[in-house]
Amino acid sequence: MPVERHFWWLTDELPADLAKVQWLPRPSKSKYPGSFPLWFEKNLCELLEIDPKEARILHPFGGCAEYGERVELPIRREYFCKNVRMEYHPHYWGDAHNLKELEATEMGNTIISLEDDTYDLVVCDPHYTSGEGQMLYDINPREYPLRRKIWQAEAVRVTKPGGFVALYHRLLLPRPEGCSWAYLIAIATRLNHEGRFCGVFTKDE
Ligand SMILES: C[S@@+](CC[C@H](N)C(=O)[O-])C[C@H]1O[C@@H](n2cnc3c(N)ncnc32)[C@H](O)[C@@H]1O
Repeated sequence: MPVERHFWWLTDELPADLAKVQWLPRPSKSKYPGSFPLWFEKNLCELLEIDPKEARILHPFGGCAEYGERVELPIRREYFCKNVRMEYHPHYWGDAHNLKELEATEMGNTIISLEDDTYDLVVCDPHYTSGEGQMLYDINPREYPLRRKIWQAEAVRVTKPGGFVALYHRLLLPRPEGCSWAYLIAIATRLNHEGRFCGVFTKDE
């Protein structure tokens, strides 16, 4: 018998509305720690009617995201997945808090600045706590603390007016300044795992 899914919200940010259900198989192809479930990016682009081959998409917390351009911290150039050594292949080495100073890997690591109003979609998927950043990615929180208002402001800055900013997190994050709510996606993950939220916002024109 098919199992009905009901999504119930306890937030007054959004009116009660129709919920649509999508199936996300796992794991992701990359098997990178903390990666999106398989099809998350594909489904998101479909929902937003964005063609990933045409649109400009940015992941300021890049990891091994599949579509668009990835920024990754320049602290480790490799990682291990099930004891297998893997290399990162970001488009930019740098910090999501300052997209004005990135090393463009396909331009011989030239320092470039991402311009205002450039991307159709910016998807932010940071680690959720400093402990998790240390454990999963070996990030020293004193060297690279997460400052939500700063990385969000950078994500909004590089998004085109009318473009989308997506915030993927364990918490339902507040609406970034200069944006309006567009979609709220709730993701039920595996047994004994916390769910995720993806708030999607449009940058005000
Ligand atoms: C949760 S993972 C993203 C996984 C990605 N969505 C995927 O599907 O593979 C977060 C990534 O952001 C990187 N990161 C953490 N802090 C960062 C920062 N300040 N700037 C850029 N990247 C950062 C981590 O090294 C890690 O690769």
